[in-house]
Amino acid sequence: MPSQALPGFRDFYPDELELRAHIFRTWREVARRYGFEEYDGPPLEPLDIYTAKSGSEIVGQLYNFTDKGGREVALRPEMTPTFARMVSARANGLRKPIRWFSIPQLFRYERQQRGRLREHFQLNCDLVGEAGPLADAELIALSIDVMRAFGLTERDVRARVSDRRVLGALLAAAGVSAAHLGDAYQAIDKAERSRPGELAAQLRSAGLGDAVIEKVFAVAAIRGRPALEAALAGLPDAGAAAPLLTALDALDAMGLGAYVDVDLSIVRGLAYYTGTVFELFDAGRTLRAICGGGRYDGLLLALGGVDLPALGFGMGDVVLGELLRERGLAPPARAEVDVFVAAVTPEDVPHALALAHELRDAGLACEFALAAQPLGRQLKQADARGARRAIVIGPDDRARGEVVLKDLAGKTQAPVRRDAVLAAVAAGDAGAHTGSRDG
Ligand code: HAM
Repeated sequence: MPSQALPGFRDFYPDELELRAHIFRTWREVARRYGFEEYDGPPLEPLDIYTAKSGSEIVGQLYNFTDKGGREVALRPEMTPTFARMVSARANGLRKPIRWFSIPQLFRYERQQRGRLREHFQLNCDLVGEAGPLADAELIALSIDVMRAFGLTERDVRARVSDRRVLGALLAAAGVSAAHLGDAYQAIDKAERSRPGELAAQLRSAGLGDAVIEKVFAVAAIRGRPALEAALAGLPDAGAAAPLLTALDALDAMGLGAYVDVDLSIVRGLAYYTGTVFELFDAGRTLRAICGGGRYDGLLLALGGVDLPALGFGMGDVVLGELLRERGLAPPARAEVDVFVAAVTPEDVPHALALAHELRDAGLACEFALAAQPLGRQLKQADARGARRAIVIGPDDRARGEVVLKDLAGKTQAPVRRDAVLAAVAAGDAGAHTGSRDG
């Protein structure tokens, strides 16, 4: 038997699952605040929904195989093609704009490195049916509000925002032909993660001249709104920036401007983006991207035959989890057990079982010793399980119609009438953790 999970796959032990559950709960809560409805799709899809539009990087990372029926299939590496297909299939019947979210587990055969595994969970929030820039601001705001809900401030995370329409206009003015635009985007996307000179060499072999290559990197180096506006001045297609500038104004009006940086090195690796593109990073930039997304107005037409504007983002649990742990924002491991019921003699056991069951029916997390043990051992076990209270049932107390209620943290105890136990425990348990794990 292998003693470890496959490389890039995680076992979630209970304390690790606690953080994942916290991430999922927070994702769902913020998505709900923005009026998003949850959906899901199949984890296995026809291969060609990815080969058609996602771009070479994703295609190179697919977990794909031929199934027993001879179909070419792949584990989903991203949710967007599934989402596009699902929306397209029912597009006519759905009220627009469509606001949907999902938390799929995704699979990519990536080179394993910090923040990048071969499976991850990804919050996907997508909005369909609105072409205007307020929708772009809405999506970026949602991603920032997720950060805020985790307790991360503008000193912890930055939203780097750009727009392929703007990049396209600036690159065209720099002499990049439409045929070479994809090469230029790829080079800009990889610039931060590549050795100097490597991308210039690639662009040269794609057929770009040195003067144009220099201008490509100058465009990618534009940071901040004043620098962008200066670069746009005098461009024949300066209007290309209007949606981006309107979205930035809207984010300012929402009070989120402090999180946002105009950054033309953001272009996104996936092939289908057509407008605003953005990524969230930790402010110190020691980690990989936390979140990425943008507008993909042509994808529903390409995959589902309905021409609807769309945009969205994906936010992974891996980098986010690292950042939360690093900042001390991961939830503390919580007490698993509200009440431990202990029996003094074997004759008390049926009474302990009856009481434990009443407590569980009342919604409390309750345990008892599964084998006969001296009382001291049972109370030790109660401590080890993190129980805040114990109820001891013994023959003498029983004869009086009582049990003993112990506060294990405060080390106090008092007799309580058997028929008043539930009320006494419930009164002391206001604010206790009784929620479900998967939120
Ligand atoms: P993506 O940039 O490929 O976009 O992934 C989005 C986020 O998922 C990344 O920023 C990162 O947090 C996380 N992620 C991606 N790959 C891995 C990995 N191998 N290990 C851990 N985390 C990872 C998309 O997937 C787009 N489909 C997002 C989107 C939705 N665009 C529009 N709607």
